[in-house]
Parts: sequence; structure tokens; C-alpha cells
Amino acid sequence: MTIENPADYWGDLWTAGRRYSPLTEPETELLDEHAGPGRGRLALDIGCGDGALARHLAGLGYQVTGLDCTPAAPALAEPTDGPVQYRCVNFEAPQPLPLPQRAFALITARLVFAFIKDKPAFLDRVRSLLDFGGVFWVVTPMAERLPPDRASTGITSAEEELLTRLWAHARSIDVGSLRYYALRAWGDASIEKRGC
Ligand SMILES: C[S@@+](CC[C@H](N)C(=O)[O-])C[C@H]1O[C@@H](n2cnc3c(N)ncnc32)[C@H](O)[C@@H]1O
Repeated sequence: MTIENPADYWGDLWTAGRRYSPLTEPETELLDEHAGPGRGRLALDIGCGDGALARHLAGLGYQVTGLDCTPAAPALAEPTDGPVQYRCVNFEAPQPLPLPQRAFALITARLVFAFIKDKPAFLDRVRSLLDFGGVFWVVTPMAERLPPDRASTGITSAEEELLTRLWAHARSIDVGSLRYYALRAWGDASIEKRGC
């Protein structure tokens, strides 16, 4: 699905009361297993929507930034002095992202990747923001398992191949209608990230 103006597109849906598959217990158990305890490390949730995942990561002990491209995303109405810092940012914007940090131990994108216009550029940007050995956690439906009229809300097998290449480790797990990816960046997380 190609969305020309994500802020307008998603803003209209949130304003109209549209909501998305809530986090489930099997999902949070898998995520906790792959992400590990936060211990104050940095996490970034791209397309944070209602903030449920960002708040869950804060509960694991991560210092979390939640990004969404539309101010209508419910999370962006949350207090800015809470456990998660929310920012209204289009992750696909051509200019540098207004993020103070550049080495996240964990980056998540739940129900977002299928809608990204330039997926190679998106993945390059994610990799540039991950710390050595950091984890990129992606949750998405697969297009082939969706009814034809909803196929564009999932990813194709070619997009899955693009998503899962160039990582030190890539693992996928199916739970219900969703596929979860734990993608680990190259390198040793104990080495400080340089040059960013
Ligand atoms: C289907 S909703 C999923 C929301 C949330 N992650 C969840 O799991 O409930 C997709 C979200 O991604 C946001 N989004 C889409 N494209 C984006 C972009 N380029 N930059 C930042 N946020 C984006 C939308 O505004 C929307 O809130």
C-alpha cells in the first residue's frame, strides 16, 4: 500500500476512532524473551499509535521514545513527563530525525512496516539508529494470509526477504495471524557505538 501523506492518512483513521490489534500475552512474552530487560537502555517505538507497546517497554526498564507521524495518535496526548517520551515525527522524512540519541538497544515497529513507502531507506535508517548487537522487533501480518481486499496491510514474501537480510541473526515466529521478527544487528552491544 502506498500512502502519500502518512500524517493525514493515519490522522483521519485515529480521529474516526479506528483502533488496531491490541498487544496479546503471547506477543509480550516473545518480545520480552528477545528484547531482554531494559536496565535503562534506549528503545524506540516507530508508529507508536496508542502507546501500548511503548509503555510495555518502559515497564521492562527501557528508556523509551515513541514516534508517530500524526498528532492524532492517542499516545501523543500523553504527558511528556511520563516514562515514555513521545514525538510527532515522520520516520520517512528526508531530513535527519530530531532524536537526541543514536544508539538504541531496541527498535520496534508494530503493524507499520507494510505501510512504509521506501522500505530499503526505512531499513537503512533503522540500522543506523541501532546500537551494536541491538534488536529490531517487527510485527506484521503476511499479505498471502489475508483476504485479497486486506492484502495490502500485510507484507509480501519479497518484502519479507528484504526485511530479514543484512542482520546478524533473523528469527521469525507466527502467532495467530501475525508474524513476529527478532532481527539482531551485527556487533557486540558492549562496544560503544562510534561515529554517530
Ligand atoms: C496500524 S497503526 C499501528 C499502531 C501501533 N504500533 C499498534 O501496534 O497498535 C500504524 C501507526 O504507524 C504510524 N505511522 C505510519 N507511518 C509512519 C511514519 N512514516 N512515521 C511515523 N509513524 C508512522 C501511524 O500514524 C499509526 O499510528
